Amino acid sequence: MSKVRSARRVSAFADSVFGEMTRLANLHGAVNLSQGFPDFEAPAAIKDAACAAISRDQNQYAPPYGTRELCEAIAGDFSRRHGVPIVADEQVTVCCGSTEAMMAVMLSCLDPGDEVIVFEPFYENYGPDAILSGATPKFVRLREPDWAFDPAELGAAFSNRTRAIVINSPNNPTGKVFSRDELQVIAELCQRWDAIAISDEIYEHILFDGRAHIPIASLPGMAERTVTTSGLSKTFSVTGWRVGWAIAPASLTGGIRKIHDFLTVAAPTPFQDAGAVALTMGDEVYAALAAGYQAKRDLLMGILERQGFTCYQPGGAYYLMADVRPFGFASDAEFAHYLIKDIGVATIPGSSFYIDPKTAPPTVRFCFSKQDETLREAGRRLAKLPCSAEL
Ligand SMILES: Cc1ncc(COP(=O)(O)O)c(C=O)c1O
Repeated sequence: MSKVRSARRVSAFADSVFGEMTRLANLHGAVNLSQGFPDFEAPAAIKDAACAAISRDQNQYAPPYGTRELCEAIAGDFSRRHGVPIVADEQVTVCCGSTEAMMAVMLSCLDPGDEVIVFEPFYENYGPDAILSGATPKFVRLREPDWAFDPAELGAAFSNRTRAIVINSPNNPTGKVFSRDELQVIAELCQRWDAIAISDEIYEHILFDGRAHIPIASLPGMAERTVTTSGLSKTFSVTGWRVGWAIAPASLTGGIRKIHDFLTVAAPTPFQDAGAVALTMGDEVYAALAAGYQAKRDLLMGILERQGFTCYQPGGAYYLMADVRPFGFASDAEFAHYLIKDIGVATIPGSSFYIDPKTAPPTVRFCFSKQDETLREAGRRLAKLPCSAEL
């Protein structure tokens, strides 16, 4: 076989369904509710801060682990909100998005042969990140309607081989917000099996109906075995800026920083300056963000329920999973393609968030981080759907 070919590890990964759905959305002129990014403006104050940083010629490499101002803002914000003291110099690593942070965490914390527990349905990167680290992902189900896990099933997934568990709350794709009791079950298992919790909290500020964010690092005994990842992307509607971070005990931070340095050197300097401004804007900004998204959730859910979907109401994040059984298609993928081509609305088939799509409940995921008018236009198009009674 020629050596001019991709490495074998690449063949473990399928092409991203997100890219494909966006390509089809563009091809068919569909309203794109598939990918998770806002189609509205970011706050003016942080855009001004980024422009000012460029004008001040903050255009060269930042310190590899993050600018002092941003690291201190991240540590201060987390400590203040959750009562967990964080030392910026020893515990914070700024990366190119929480995507890079997650990769750096897995590459630095997992050895070949380790197992990492991942809840499914899952955000698409966790499995590949684990595999690239030489570890084996082990999947445990979250089950509709409330996307709860079975504690016995989770307990049985842990063993001496378990090095880590990935938690994502608020959750993509389900919108589930893990309760304190659920996090406590996970925390006890981590402590019993000496495992690390890797907690993706990128939607930490998008919470509905009075819910509060609970980082698993704030549970007793967990700060010393938790890595928390988050970033600017979702809270400040700047997914293209690529600024995220990992907050970890000092014992793990050295490894994360080494890998991050080799992967990307540093996150973009002007956007780090803007990030330091963003994180000190005050809690009203977070409250307004959550209220705005709750109104969008309610708008979209009303539209979908009128068209015959069974919706699983999200408690946070900006996605909504809807059961498509009433429409009588053979699979959710077939229904999602019909929605794009015949109705003009792009979604993600829910089965793509499962390791074995055949065992997934038939759902599609709608993203509602869109202008109200975009959601209403999707509603006008969905009104063309034959509702279950007519099928
Ligand atoms: C659960 C989850 N984690 C991480 C990310 C990526 O975040 P970032 O833009 O910080 O890389 C996303 C983006 O959709 C996500 O849904």
